[in-house]
Amino acid sequence: MIGNGSNFVDHGLSEADPEVRSIIDKEKERQFKSLELIASENFTSRAVMEAVGSCLTNKYSEGLPGKRYYGGNEYIDELETLCQQRALEAFQVDGKKWGVDVQPLSCSPANFEVYTAILKPHDRLMIADAVGAFLMMDMAHISGLVAASVVANPFEYCDIVTTATHKSLRGPRGGLIFFKKDTVLGVDLESAINNAVFPGIQFPCRENALLT
Ligand SMILES: Cc1ncc(COP(=O)(O)O)c(C=O)c1O
Repeated sequence: MIGNGSNFVDHGLSEADPEVRSIIDKEKERQFKSLELIASENFTSRAVMEAVGSCLTNKYSEGLPGKRYYGGNEYIDELETLCQQRALEAFQVDGKKWGVDVQPLSCSPANFEVYTAILKPHDRLMIADAVGAFLMMDMAHISGLVAASVVANPFEYCDIVTTATHKSLRGPRGGLIFFKKDTVLGVDLESAINNAVFPGIQFPCRENALLT
């Protein structure tokens, strides 16, 4: 019990768990003082850190904006819709032709979610044009260059494009799946992919990492 009558004391990390605080501090020091040349990694901004460490981490928001399983998602819906708009804008993609699922936890589950959506047992990933197959690109490493129009645009050729958000995009750890809105090879990619993400593979999405 503390002086102000509250029995719920919400300490900062240094007080609540100095051991963990000290490990984080050492890692921060290491990141500042060493030269890191790992292509998968980046250093995100303070603003992203702030969003990731916010109250959004408390919320469950299974489903899609306007179609949630739980109540209290009005601001999460606003956030996810904004994130979808920004993801399409970042790659100058026409929102009438393309949709995006912004919930993947990172690019590896995003890829597996795409395979879950479109592959049947014993199907193969092939060279697309020659065999009349879906064309998918994982642009995880070069998505910043795609957004800046420095390299060829996969949206001109592909049916599905996946990316991580924490590599050259320098956002929080997350993944995106872009899909054509028109039916491809008889498959409604939008519902197949959204359903593969949730409830197929993931239950919670990380709302605190949505604002990429
Ligand atoms: C091409 C490619 N896709 C996916 C991944 C894994 O991405 P994530 O860490 O977002 O799961 C990597 C990792 O570097 C990668 O190089």
